[in-house]
Amino acid sequence: MVCLGNICRSPLAEGILQQLADKNNLPWEVHSAGTNGLQNGEAPHHFTQKIALLHGIDIGQQVSKKITEADIAAYDKIYVMAEDIMADVKKIAGSSFDENKIQYFLKQGPTQPFGNNVPDPWYGGEEGFVTVHKIIADTCQAIITNYKK
Ligand code: 4NP
Repeated sequence: MVCLGNICRSPLAEGILQQLADKNNLPWEVHSAGTNGLQNGEAPHHFTQKIALLHGIDIGQQVSKKITEADIAAYDKIYVMAEDIMADVKKIAGSSFDENKIQYFLKQGPTQPFGNNVPDPWYGGEEGFVTVHKIIADTCQAIITNYKK
């Protein structure tokens, strides 16, 4: 799961998809990273932690990191939160960019009005995190449902 700062969107996606995978007995390891590295070493945003906990997921132990070319090689699937992030990931991947492996997160879920872009709640108040939680939770559920089809 990849977003910009790895403190709002992708940590939530990591926590939700990991919990769903565990509940469905899928032996997946879900991780997240950002592309800007500005929040390296930080815990998720406090509102991200709060909305996750409200839904029974503790993501307080996560630590923000910047995605590397080695990460791109190491993972089977890479889900990208928005078009600006995809441009960054393409640059980092270079010639190893693989469109079967690196996909928009929102392409995995039900059609909705956001195109390829999970709204970035960083720029607003707490209500933005509630909206983003719903989008991310619905899409994570769709990833599991599609996989089990
Ligand atoms: P995220 O949100 O990419 O969902 O973690 C942001 C976090 C930090 C910044 C922007 C968005 N920033 O500009 O530092």
